[in-house]
Amino acid sequence: MTPTKWFTLCLAASALLLSACESKVSYTEDVQPILFSACLSCHNKDSEGYLNSGFSLDSYEAVMKGTNFGAVVVPGSPESSSLYLVIAQKTAPEIHMPPHSDVALADGRGFPLSEDQVEVFRLWIEQGALNN
Ligand code: HEC
Repeated sequence: MTPTKWFTLCLAASALLLSACESKVSYTEDVQPILFSACLSCHNKDSEGYLNSGFSLDSYEAVMKGTNFGAVVVPGSPESSSLYLVIAQKTAPEIHMPPHSDVALADGRGFPLSEDQVEVFRLWIEQGALNN
């Protein structure tokens, strides 16, 4: 095989690999089920997460509206999104979500999300935080 042909083949292969790794995340199928099972009990209109922060996540619109202080999702930028930072444990332990530290307001009653679940949120935000 000539070097040019080899190069073209490698490019095609890496494009395929990339698309397989960066699969498209769906809000309805991937993100919302995690929010509902791990967060909704405290972040609906009657419970402490909502009462203390104003953050409800019973709909896509509510998630995008954020807390009393503003948005927690910046489409395209996980590292600027406090929603991502609190679940990826990149903040002070007091505000990790779900709260699993003894110093948290909701004092250690939750469990951290798995790495795979955190990655679902990272990709969803990076891909534009769509209502898809
Ligand atoms: C045991 C109850 C509880 C659970 C479960 C819970 N939260 Fe919270 N959350 C709170 C409380 C209380 C606050 C407000 C006080 C605080 O910031 O610690 C809060 C605040 C927040 C904030 C605002 C943080 C800030 O100050 O900017 C975000 C974002 C958040 N939660 C996301 C989540 C997500 C996402 C989940 C699920 C993965 C989750 N929470 C699960 C109780 C909970």
